[in-house]
Amino acid sequence: MEENVIRKILEAVKKASREEERIQIVLKGQYLEAYELLKDSEAAGLTPAIIGPPGVGKTLICRYYAMMTGRPFFWVTLDEGTKPSHLIGSFNPAVVLEKGFTIEAFEPGPLTLAMVLGGVFVANELNRASEYVQNVFLEPLEERSYYIPHIGRIKAESSFFFIASMNPSELAGVHRISEALRDRIQVWITLTYPDRETELEIVRLHCKEYYIPNDVLEKIYDIVSRTRSHSAIEKPASIRATISIAKLTAEYLKREGSISDEELAKIAKHVLIGSIKTRPGVKREEVVKSIIEDVLKTKEVVI
Ligand SMILES: Nc1ncnc2c1ncn2[C@@H]1O[C@H](COP(=O)(O)OP(=O)(O)OP(=O)(O)O)[C@@H](O)[C@H]1O
Ligand SMILES: [Mg+2]
Repeated sequence: MEENVIRKILEAVKKASREEERIQIVLKGQYLEAYELLKDSEAAGLTPAIIGPPGVGKTLICRYYAMMTGRPFFWVTLDEGTKPSHLIGSFNPAVVLEKGFTIEAFEPGPLTLAMVLGGVFVANELNRASEYVQNVFLEPLEERSYYIPHIGRIKAESSFFFIASMNPSELAGVHRISEALRDRIQVWITLTYPDRETELEIVRLHCKEYYIPNDVLEKIYDIVSRTRSHSAIEKPASIRATISIAKLTAEYLKREGSISDEELAKIAKHVLIGSIKTRPGVKREEVVKSIIEDVLKTKEVVI
């Protein structure tokens, strides 16, 4: 690649890496285990996948791993609309007209950049990509190279590391992982909703600038955690919902000094209504109302 192009990319990546240094994580229990497994997989030359429901920290642990090993971090979320060029990059037609299919006309995609710069690359929702797109990963995983027409075969730096990430309920989704690709992923790391103590610690970490009494935080956790064992709920509320309710509550407390269960119920409702998915035929308003009333023992939550 042209030197000035590389320099520009490196500058942008360095800037992003400096921002990454602000990542904060609760590294205990399943998160510590996942982190150690990522380290061991890489040292052993194996490719890992992280499987877990939305919002359990899959991306965060990968981002943290990249930061701790001093590498740039790249990620894409795949779906049926993803094309190989979204990963590899493409030629800019305007520059091609002027200069032909030269390196200058090529705008690299995140996979190419991760390979050339030796970064950590995360393929989110790998199983949602078409087989055609899944096949793009075969050569980088097997040979640590990729052939780009007009440019030639690019070779990955030794520190290039690929991690797949997936949602378990999607495993039966539109496109499964092709046999060829599955065969090249050897380590399957599962993450799930953290235990009570860990999730409360995560929420406190995200609300460091706020004051929230422990009993209020416990109630918030109880409400969210109830969505994860409710039979009418298909997609429960994630850690993101716990953090959001806690932050809204903290803002209320800052303004009003204290909070009643009725007010906490309202805040929880505003977050949960959009963060859960109920089974077909079940009204989400009804489920949210009954969970909140049940946990807080409040009379009527107006939806
Ligand atoms: N161990 C942890 N320490 C601190 N924060 C965490 C931890 N785990 C999750 N979080 C927080 O929870 C939120 C969701 O995490 P993340 O985006 O990594 O989840 P995900 O599993 O990648 O979700 P999705 O499936 O939607 O992509 C983020 O705000 C993240 O910072
Ligand atoms: Mg993610």
